[in-house]
Amino acid sequence: MLILGVETSCDDTAAAVLFNGHEVLANLVSSQDSVHGPYGGVVPELASRQHIRSILPIIEGALQKAGVRLKDLDGIAVTRGPGLVGSLLVGLSVVKGISFRWKIPYVGINHLEAHLLAIFLERDVAFPYIALIASGGHTLLYMVREFGEYLYLGGTRDDAAGEAYDKVAKMMGLGYPGGRVIDQLAKSGDSKFVSFPRSRMKKGSYDFSFSGIKTAVWHYFRETGKNGGEDQQSNIAASFQEAVVDMLVNPTLRAVRELGVNRIVLAGGVAANSRLRAKMLEETKKEGIEVYIPPPALCTDNGAMIAHCGYHWLKRGRRDDFRLNADADLTL
Ligand code: KG4
Ligand code: ZN
Repeated sequence: MLILGVETSCDDTAAAVLFNGHEVLANLVSSQDSVHGPYGGVVPELASRQHIRSILPIIEGALQKAGVRLKDLDGIAVTRGPGLVGSLLVGLSVVKGISFRWKIPYVGINHLEAHLLAIFLERDVAFPYIALIASGGHTLLYMVREFGEYLYLGGTRDDAAGEAYDKVAKMMGLGYPGGRVIDQLAKSGDSKFVSFPRSRMKKGSYDFSFSGIKTAVWHYFRETGKNGGEDQQSNIAASFQEAVVDMLVNPTLRAVRELGVNRIVLAGGVAANSRLRAKMLEETKKEGIEVYIPPPALCTDNGAMIAHCGYHWLKRGRRDDFRLNADADLTL
């Protein structure tokens, strides 16, 4: 079964071709970082326009790399939400056009479900597992009971973890997006240099909060009169990162222990973070908890995870018709 996956929910235009649900024949992403960089964050209108420019070349590129033609496809999967509505509409409209012209069935995919299952492109994981999605737009904790059965455990009450990275990077003059740069800088820094506060939720809650750490970094710069001069930058990056990682790891570990599930899966762009990966492994080693982390290209937004999710839905007989609309606030 050959599936084309198309993803345009935010600021990356992505397409992938998947064979039999697992074998990635092509997985291409056209990044818009240089478009949004000067603004320090995603500008929705610019994102939609850039998707319009990139979508056909990316789909054609993915088909070419996979060595297949449109008429060879058995199905198409496309993100229908959540995300920026203008961005979502570009992918959905193009896929509807291809589906109509070539009479190929298509399904609209929930972007969050695709992140939750992306690990299966790399290896099999037994159900149930606790999944942490941490990206620029989301910080969510779910229990994945089986395919199609997702129990919401908690989410961020304000900023997403990646958003905190991007905003702090902006304060430090490090450009956009900032996660990877801070991760890199932190490697040579002292994480105990500043003790930034960790937000705490009340007992029983698996929610997150990242606005406090962002404000704390802002106050640190204001009070010390430093804007993270070169000698300080790596120390501040490491201190900030340690706090964010603690705030991601702690609720996840609590969920695993309290719910008696001994498997963790990470997903989303922030799951590419080296300290998060290391700390999650460190903290779970003694307790025999299994941690599964997809490679960075499957953590960040990509077409392969959409195609994989679509494969499962198409196999179960789901087909969407041309009335399907994009849904910016789609939940699981
Ligand atoms: O999942 P993603 O590609 O897009 C969405 O936001 O949906 O995630 C992008 C986010 C950005 O906020 C970026 O700064 C963050 O993931 N990110 C990282 C790292 N790589 C990307 N954050 C921390 N450490 C990284 N290595
Ligand atoms: Zn995402």
